[in-house]
Amino acid sequence: MVASGTFGYGEEFEELIDVNRLGALVVKSITREPRPGNRTPRSCESPSGMLNSIGLENKGLQGFLKDLYPRISEKFRCPLVVNIAGADEDEYVELAEAIGALPKVAALEINISCPNIRCGGMTFGVSAQLTGALVKRLRRATKVPLIVKLSPNVTDPAAVAQGALDAGADILSLVNTVLALSIDWRKRRSRIAGFTGGLSGPAIRPIAVRMVWQVKKRFPKVPVIGIGGIVNADDVLEFMVAGASAVQVGTANFVEPTVTMEILDRLPGILAAEGIHRIEELVGTVRGSEDAQVPQVNA
Ligand SMILES: Cc1cc2nc3c(=O)[nH]c(=O)nc-3n(C[C@H](O)[C@H](O)[C@H](O)COP(=O)(O)O)c2cc1C
Repeated sequence: MVASGTFGYGEEFEELIDVNRLGALVVKSITREPRPGNRTPRSCESPSGMLNSIGLENKGLQGFLKDLYPRISEKFRCPLVVNIAGADEDEYVELAEAIGALPKVAALEINISCPNIRCGGMTFGVSAQLTGALVKRLRRATKVPLIVKLSPNVTDPAAVAQGALDAGADILSLVNTVLALSIDWRKRRSRIAGFTGGLSGPAIRPIAVRMVWQVKKRFPKVPVIGIGGIVNADDVLEFMVAGASAVQVGTANFVEPTVTMEILDRLPGILAAEGIHRIEELVGTVRGSEDAQVPQVNA
C-alpha cells in the first residue's frame, strides 16, 4: 500500500504508475472541514529522511464525498482505504459514519498520530484510554474494518494498541512520523514554519521495525501494517519478518514515484531465491524474539 499523505488521492500518480497494482490506495487524511494546512515552509530535508508539518491540508468531508470519491472510486479498481482525522471524538465519528457508508471504501484508517495539528491527532494516539474511548465510538459508527494508525511518539506502542483492540479495532498500522525539530542555527529558527514536524524516511525505519515487532509480539493474532522508511523490497521483507502482514510506502514516493512498482516487481524474485513460496510464511519469523525484553507500560 501507499502511506497516507504521500500519494495524494492516487490521481497525482496515475500517469506514472499503475495504481491498480497496489494492495490498496490509502488517501491523505480527511477532516470534517476543509483545511488549508500550516504555513510554509512545511517540509525540509534531514539525513536519510524529511521533516514535514503539512497540517492535514485537505478538501474536507464534503469535498471528498462530492468531488474526490466519485472520481477515484470510478477510476481505480484497487481497494480504497480512507484515512480520517479529527480534533475531537465527534469529528471522527461523523467522518466514519459518512465515509464508512460509501460502497467502495474497503477500510478506514484512523489517524490518531498526526503530530502537526494543534487539537486531536496525536493527543489521542499517545493515550491508551483516549484511543480506547474513540475507537469504541467508531466501532459503533461503522461496520467497515478499522485500521488504527499508531504513533511512534510513545514508550510502549503495545499499550495504546491494547486500548484500540479492546475497543474493537481490526488492524493496526504503525508508525506515523516521529516528532522532530530541525534548526538553522545561524538564523536561530526552525527550518519549518510549524516549528516542530514529523520525521519520516529511512531514518525512522529501525524505530518502526522495533515497534511493529513489539506490537506483534504482544498481539500475535492481530494483523499489523508496517510503515516507516521503506524504500525497497528488502525493507518490506524486514518489516514482515518483524511481524507486519502488509506494509505502506510513504516518503520514498517523493524520491522515486515508481518505487512501489519496483518493489512489486522485485519481491517474487527475492522470495524465489530464498525458497519462500508464500510471503505469509515470513510474518513474525524473527529469531531470538522470545528472550528480548522491552519496557512495558501498565496503561
Ligand atoms: C508529507 C507527508 C504527509 C503526511 N500526511 C499524513 C496524513 O495526512 N495522514 C497520516 O495518517 N499520515 C501522514 N503522513 C505519515 C505517513 O503516512 C507515514 O506514516 C510516515 O511518513 C512514515 O512512513 P515513511 O517513512 O515511509 O514516509 C505523512 C507523511 C509525510 C511525509
